Amino acid sequence: MSDSHSQKMILAGFIQASNCSNYTGSWRHPETDHSFLSPEYYQSIARTLELGKFHLAFIDDRLAMPSQYGNSFIDSVNHGIRSVKLDLVPVMTAMGLATSNLGIGGTYSTTYHHPYHVARLFATVDHMTKGRSALNVVTSLNDAEAQNFGLLEHSNHDVRYDQAEEFMEIAVGLWESWENDALIVDSGSGRFADGDKVKAIDYDGMWFKSKGPLTVPHCPQGKPVIIQAGQSPRGREFAAKWAELIFVIFPSLEANKRFYDDIKEKILSYGRDPAKVLVAPAIYVVVGDTDESALAKFQEIKQLAKTVDSLTLLSEVFNYDFSQHAIDEPLSDSDLESISGLRGFLDRVIGLSGTNNPTVQDFITYSGRGTLDELPTFVGSPSSVADNMQDWFENGACDGFVIAATHMPGAYEDFCSMVVPELQRRGIFQDDYRGSTLRDNLGIL
Ligand SMILES: Cc1cc2nc3c(=O)[nH]c(=O)nc-3n(C[C@H](O)[C@H](O)[C@H](O)COP(=O)(O)O)c2cc1C
Repeated sequence: MSDSHSQKMILAGFIQASNCSNYTGSWRHPETDHSFLSPEYYQSIARTLELGKFHLAFIDDRLAMPSQYGNSFIDSVNHGIRSVKLDLVPVMTAMGLATSNLGIGGTYSTTYHHPYHVARLFATVDHMTKGRSALNVVTSLNDAEAQNFGLLEHSNHDVRYDQAEEFMEIAVGLWESWENDALIVDSGSGRFADGDKVKAIDYDGMWFKSKGPLTVPHCPQGKPVIIQAGQSPRGREFAAKWAELIFVIFPSLEANKRFYDDIKEKILSYGRDPAKVLVAPAIYVVVGDTDESALAKFQEIKQLAKTVDSLTLLSEVFNYDFSQHAIDEPLSDSDLESISGLRGFLDRVIGLSGTNNPTVQDFITYSGRGTLDELPTFVGSPSSVADNMQDWFENGACDGFVIAATHMPGAYEDFCSMVVPELQRRGIFQDDYRGSTLRDNLGIL
């Protein structure tokens, strides 16, 4: 292991409570298990990841069907493009009950949920999993989500982060509203708990108010592990201040390294220990017995994507209807100004296409949205994939990885049976869990 790491790499499984994995074409794969509405589906994935000694499974979320393309959800439904998103807490609970060491993370929106509700849910999940919960904090993305919650449109990017700050102050206050030793539960003396060790928070903010205390006593981890994935300047500040695990998407080792150096410096500037805040880029892995067989698998999986997947997901992520343009039409300056979604993605398209006015096809090609090109994809034999991962890990690009699945559950079965033993043999990934809580296992106590 290189000097830059005090511990081995961490691994998270990138799960969707949905008909498809992060790769929308995945549901068309002949080996895909289509029982995404059953608890057994999620429990079986959780058991596979636990056998592979993954630190955690984390479930992403979106609070609306993709509905911006053609101003309709019809393509999303017809083609199975993320039209299904189950609520996460019941799914997390099902996964937690089927495992005993795997961390279980879920995504909640700071824009559309009240912090009291979320603090209570995650403190409860932490109790039910005996200290294995994680909360991925997102500010959400588009108007369709706003409209499901009674608003006309999604609020401005930086305003969302202001709101997220208040959200976190309240949530953390509520998680701390019961001291660790407040519960007494002595039926003999009749003392249930020590009232001096349970406090109101009386928070009166611009977006949220909450009196407290929480109705859930101090949870095993004190609070869930906080995950965040902000990439904009404001998002990075937020992550540096609050996150314990930071997820990113960058196309190369060098781009990850630039982010890694920048965020670790920012973490330090908030008076926090950079070694206790872990950075994990999302990647796809396609592994086979040999490089050739892996490449053949990759080509097969790549064919599952359709152009409508890309257009639907681009419209969703940019909160912009791409159906108003022909595929080879460049977007004008004013078109680009009305794009309000992920800024990092827009910068990527402009940077890689080499033009300030990319065409719709440029958006598809250079964002990789809806295709395997969206994330770095490591393709090869177990030893080639492990070489790639080791290279990133030991050369200052990351502390571990978020493994996205090309199809479910096969991609995780392949990774755990083929790549994990190779990483373990090289001494860069754990042979077993070292503690009982997720925070213990991540080494960020
Ligand atoms: C691995 C990963 C997972 C993410 N999961 C979600 C998610 O489940 N829901 C969501 O709305 N955004 C998700 N995001 C998006 C981020 O929360 C964030 O909005 C994005 O990185 C842009 O941040 P910025 O607005 O600071 O640029 C994810 C990002 C990454 C890198």
